[in-house]
Amino acid sequence: MYSDIIEIAKRRGFFWPSFSIYGGFSGFYDYGPLGTLLKDNIIKIWKESYLNDDTIFIDTPNLTPEPVFKASGHIARFADIAAECKKCNNKFKFETVLSYNNISKIPKNIDEAVELKNEFKLKCPVCNSIIDNVYNFNLMFKAENNNLYLRPETAQGIFVNFKLIYNYNRGKLPLIIGQAGKGFRNEIAPRQSLIRLKEFNQCEIEAFFDPDNLYFKELYDYKKIKLRPNTGEEYNITVKDAMEKGIIGSNAFAYFVLKTQYILEYMGMDNEKLRFRQHEPDERAHYAADSWDAEALIDNDWFEIVGIANRTDFDLKNHDENSNEPMKIKINDNEIIPYVIEPSYGIDRIILALLVQSYYERDNKFKVLKLNYNIAPYHIAVFPLMRKGELKEKALQLYNEIKKIDRYIYYDESGSIGKRYARQDEIGTPYCITVDYQTIEDNTVTVRYRDTMKQKRVKMDDILLKNNFENL
Ligand code: GAP
Repeated sequence: MYSDIIEIAKRRGFFWPSFSIYGGFSGFYDYGPLGTLLKDNIIKIWKESYLNDDTIFIDTPNLTPEPVFKASGHIARFADIAAECKKCNNKFKFETVLSYNNISKIPKNIDEAVELKNEFKLKCPVCNSIIDNVYNFNLMFKAENNNLYLRPETAQGIFVNFKLIYNYNRGKLPLIIGQAGKGFRNEIAPRQSLIRLKEFNQCEIEAFFDPDNLYFKELYDYKKIKLRPNTGEEYNITVKDAMEKGIIGSNAFAYFVLKTQYILEYMGMDNEKLRFRQHEPDERAHYAADSWDAEALIDNDWFEIVGIANRTDFDLKNHDENSNEPMKIKINDNEIIPYVIEPSYGIDRIILALLVQSYYERDNKFKVLKLNYNIAPYHIAVFPLMRKGELKEKALQLYNEIKKIDRYIYYDESGSIGKRYARQDEIGTPYCITVDYQTIEDNTVTVRYRDTMKQKRVKMDDILLKNNFENL
């Protein structure tokens, strides 16, 4: 449950609201010791998975000069419609006000939003007074006086470097470029901890294609997934089938949907609690011709965690027209501007979804995070049965030996063994190893499994022969 995760996250060191000693500022969260390990594991999985597709990674500045965002359309169009209540002094995303007032119509622009406000005399979700003001609100942070903006997406750092990297890649398409970094948005109403932050972590991929050849790789048959195209149907089919039935527009787009499904499941996302939903045409970002969101179920609500967009040649064309760099390239004597498919992963939301989905209570008492081994902050915890003498010595020796093979290991000697197991269950450690009196006699230890709570005696030497501990 979300509320349990928020409690564990703070108490056990996954994440907590930033700057709380100064009263807290909404929209900012710190990752603590365990959250930092978890986040790094998630980013590593993303990166290694894309290295498999020969992705080239870059790292570009957070602060970006105004001409870049003028060209990309963000200054003119990267805005949300905001609603303001002057009675209680709260600001909302307009869609929140619509949903509070049970209105399903989505306005296409600010004029339609004002019409809706006047027609329905919309009420404030907090104090129920009539909403005073509806207006366009640009989501970018501007550093005053020097015409710099904090980037709202890492993507533009890739687009402005396209030509340079295309040449580095010896003029070959498809070209896949990735960047992990921070994005910044002046969100009107930050909410639900990691869901809507003002500073957040993105892992973005921009895949550049010849527009006449949107083929990347053969799609493999993988598990069925919930797919909701904007035509109203809901399918439970494989991505490969969806492509063959024409539900997803191109092989390249389908490949990144499939890859996203695979990566999220590899991190431990429950396939049943994952779906892909296509945007309605008037819901898309200003740069997108088609968009599908990977949505994860958190408690009873679906949240976008990854956005996959067909950005066409929108960004490169705009930089071609506004910068000093021609973005056209030659393919078979034709000059073209490549098309872009962009899977954009929101790491904070993925973390929250994985934590909530992995949480359960054992015997209505013990909190457990059934984190996948691939992302767990620690793989193993080592305990001596007693915190002194030969048992402690042996446990420390084992801890140090295992550490040579895997550094994601924790040593704990305080409290009863039951309490130590419970502590590790709560932070998602898959295995605990206890050194006890029998260890002194025959060099075996007790391995205890988080998910079954079963225990097994294993020779210490057999443990140390392993290269990794995924199947201890
Ligand atoms: N470059 C495309 C892009 O930025 P997006 O759908 O706006 O697309 C991609 O963002 C992902 O970034 C989202 O799916 C979400 O997971 C994450 N994200 C966006 N805004 C966020 C925010 N304010 N707080 C936390 N995560 C956010």
